[in-house]
Amino acid sequence: MLETIAKRDRDLGTPASLATHHVQLTIDGQTLSVPAGTSVMRAAAQTGIMIPRLCATDRLDAFGSCRLCLVQIDGRTGTPASCTTPVEDGMVVHTETERLKTLRKGVMELYLSDHPLDCLTCPANGDCELQDMAGVVGLREIRYGRDGAHHRDAETDASNPYFTYDPSTCIVCNRCVRACDDIQGTFALALQGRGFDARIVAGQDDGFLASDCVSCGACVQACPTSALIENSVIAQGQARHAVITTCAYCGVGCGFKAEMQGDQLIRMTPWKDGKANRGHACVKGRFAWGYATHAERITTPMIRARTDQAWRPVGWDEAIAFAADRLRDIQARHGVNAIGGITSSRCTNEETYLVQKMIRAAMGNNNVDTCGRVCHSPTGYGLKTTIGESAGTQTFDSVAQVDVAVVLGANPSAAHPVFAARLKQRLRQGARLIVIDPRRIELVDAPHVKADFHLALRPGTNVAVLNALAHVIVDEDLIDHTFVQARCEEKAFAQWLDFIRLPENAPEASEAISGVPAAALRGAARLYATGGNGAIYYGLGVTEHSQGSTAVMAIANLAMLTGNIGREGVGINPLRGQNNVQGSCDMGSFPHEFPGYRHVSDDAVRQSFEQAWGVTLQAEPGLRLPNMFDAALSGSFKGLYCQGEDIAQSDPNTRHVVAALQAMECVIVQDLFLNETAKYAHVFLPGSSFLEKDGTFTNAERRISRVRRLMAPKAGMADWEVTCALSGALGYPMEYAHPGEVLDEIARLTPTFAGVSFARIDALGGSVQWPCNDAAPEGTPIMHVDEFVRGKGRFMITRYVPTDERSTRRFPLLMTTGRILSQYNAGTQTRRTANLAWHDEDLLEIHPQDAQDRGIEHGDAVRVASRAGDTVLRADVTENIAPGVVYTTFHFPGCGTNVLTTDNTDWATDCPEYKVTAVQVHKAMQPATEMLVP
Ligand code: SF4
Ligand code: SF4
Ligand code: SF4
Ligand code: FES
Repeated sequence: MLETIAKRDRDLGTPASLATHHVQLTIDGQTLSVPAGTSVMRAAAQTGIMIPRLCATDRLDAFGSCRLCLVQIDGRTGTPASCTTPVEDGMVVHTETERLKTLRKGVMELYLSDHPLDCLTCPANGDCELQDMAGVVGLREIRYGRDGAHHRDAETDASNPYFTYDPSTCIVCNRCVRACDDIQGTFALALQGRGFDARIVAGQDDGFLASDCVSCGACVQACPTSALIENSVIAQGQARHAVITTCAYCGVGCGFKAEMQGDQLIRMTPWKDGKANRGHACVKGRFAWGYATHAERITTPMIRARTDQAWRPVGWDEAIAFAADRLRDIQARHGVNAIGGITSSRCTNEETYLVQKMIRAAMGNNNVDTCGRVCHSPTGYGLKTTIGESAGTQTFDSVAQVDVAVVLGANPSAAHPVFAARLKQRLRQGARLIVIDPRRIELVDAPHVKADFHLALRPGTNVAVLNALAHVIVDEDLIDHTFVQARCEEKAFAQWLDFIRLPENAPEASEAISGVPAAALRGAARLYATGGNGAIYYGLGVTEHSQGSTAVMAIANLAMLTGNIGREGVGINPLRGQNNVQGSCDMGSFPHEFPGYRHVSDDAVRQSFEQAWGVTLQAEPGLRLPNMFDAALSGSFKGLYCQGEDIAQSDPNTRHVVAALQAMECVIVQDLFLNETAKYAHVFLPGSSFLEKDGTFTNAERRISRVRRLMAPKAGMADWEVTCALSGALGYPMEYAHPGEVLDEIARLTPTFAGVSFARIDALGGSVQWPCNDAAPEGTPIMHVDEFVRGKGRFMITRYVPTDERSTRRFPLLMTTGRILSQYNAGTQTRRTANLAWHDEDLLEIHPQDAQDRGIEHGDAVRVASRAGDTVLRADVTENIAPGVVYTTFHFPGCGTNVLTTDNTDWATDCPEYKVTAVQVHKAMQPATEMLVP
């Protein structure tokens, strides 16, 4: 039962052994068979015998420090620790002898002699392993008195906004240190001192906030006492029940146990059985959910005739009728195609499906687009063209079998932190790493992780670099000929070979374009082609370019050329940005595609939707998002329904977007907060947070996971109900009793989802990867195993064409953009949480040389100007960025980063070129205080 489950996960004490060979032993008279390498503690736990323990947990390798888990083994002297003792064939183990009981009592007595013993007022009361163990061993008195030296008055560290460290209840079990090292890979904690003086310190003993700690919370989760505990538990007490749901931030799609008191969320604990995250999380998903109950939430619908008027709060019926009347009036005067809508990658699959259905069936056109347009639409185009499916090929688990990881145009430590933690685990085991990025991202030189190659290319030159890598592999005949012959189109491959052998693709030619030394290109190509399982992980640093689709096809060429596709540990892995950007694209949010990526001009597909929906549908693709803006400025597009996306902040060339919004007669914004776009809206419909929704999200590995409603929608209506109401008011009623019925309709109409339902997802342990249908009833973890979805893989010619955006004397620096760990996209959610403690403004990273040339010092306010606009940021002078390149984020409207970005787009998909903007930077007199747009 997933809805309400025990708060504490079953813990077998030590990790599972991966050995296939079994051994037989006896524990307390029970004979059992377990894999070789299993600890005695785990073997016992598997038979239901719980050996007392404190320092062991099955998420961490055994440490053997607390001496509570002692056992006796026939034929052996002493009392070995069961957590560090592996099973052996024929072993006979006793876990509950009188001698052991006495020893354990003695150990517990020592622990408790230096413990506050204020259990009744301790926040961990009832959820404390020390308390449990005191009960289990039967301790009744402490003989040592409480007058001697102790730690009971030790100072607490409350610097982290989300959790507190209280050394007085620390038992120095080291679980926090091991969690930080082994799970998260940040190495922020250390055990300092020995014996009585031993204590846990963060960083250089300067507190959690000032240390390298990234606030992932793994240490808090690992702590068996209240020494590390969430502030929300301290303030509100412990949860009464827990519900499994899915994070609403990034495309990793971590599973969580939402721990509740009634309809109050107390804490989010990463779900141990979550297949995307395996019990880990980051600061956003674990802690940054306070925005959902933030005072600035708008919970009443509002309307106004003109955008220079004040908002007028109204009831739902009036707001829906007002919106529908305006949209219908526009269509009567300007034609059926004069309106459209934008679906949200923050909303569920079911909500997104309903919005595109409303646009196609109720508005009667295909003018639907999604924020996927501005991030991964080139992934859709590039992968569909080469291998036949617009999605990543693997599971996140697959990273455990990677030998060579290529991280290209992505910064997982900031944008996909749980994946980064899993990748770093693998890299610490010895896998090799190639980073291709203009910035020295954290992975290049993280604790105990070093990239073998960092190809610090100039922004905009991905294709030249990827072509050079392929050139070397061909030139040195490192091709997987067997794979290519069996799996790829012969003619396309032959043509591509002729192309890639051209001198223009040689490393020396690439060096002149990209700035990456030819020798490094050769070395990286050899490593990827010959280093074993090679997997490519890429992000928006690939797609958000004028050649984004070309770069994605070049990635697919590389994977096919080396046979690195169709099995564990390899593949092409687009790191999707938003929690449900994969799902919103799957659900038919593009103007040319129905759900399941089927073209609107396909008569058979269109007819299936016409039949199911009872309407006639247009066979021509509708307007893409940038085309909607252009059409608005030329007067032919007048009304927009915008769900859960702040286009005035997140889309490029803000002035252009704002002008387009101002030219429209009816802009409907549905969101949690009055965002930047709402300044230009006529109708505001309150949205619901993920805590108020039922449905599914689909993550970057095609994994469809349940999102569960934990509390009633704050505004009284769930988002799917609002869409149905608006559709009904437009004259096309859509009736469902529950989002599960929407998913059932999606499954009926979409072959890749045919086997998906709420019940099936539950039956499969909480998630399933599409395709899930009769051919794959349990889903598809790895795609393209025996053949590509399109049959034969197709090599594509990927000629490098420089972007029109060049540095000039007037704009000599190239600016690229990205994210930071603590903030998320337009910041709508994270800016309303305590995550501001880490990052409360967008900074401009600039190389020391470029800063010195301009008289700029670290922290100075600088004016950044591009052809599109200008803004003011503070300078972060750092060698993380190459000379000639500057970098910033786009989380704060006050800095208006997208005022600078241009309206250059990918040639195939119109995805904006966020990643390359020529700019000039000067020292400014004062920082920006408000958005620099009209
Ligand atoms: S919160 Fe995460 S990064 Fe910080 S000390 Fe704990 S485990 Fe390490
Ligand atoms: S803080 Fe918690 S996990 Fe860390 S050593 Fe102390 S008791 Fe163990
Ligand atoms: S890694 Fe992504 S999905 Fe996981 S907790 Fe963090 S933001 Fe949420
Ligand atoms: S649990 Fe085995 S020594 Fe602590």
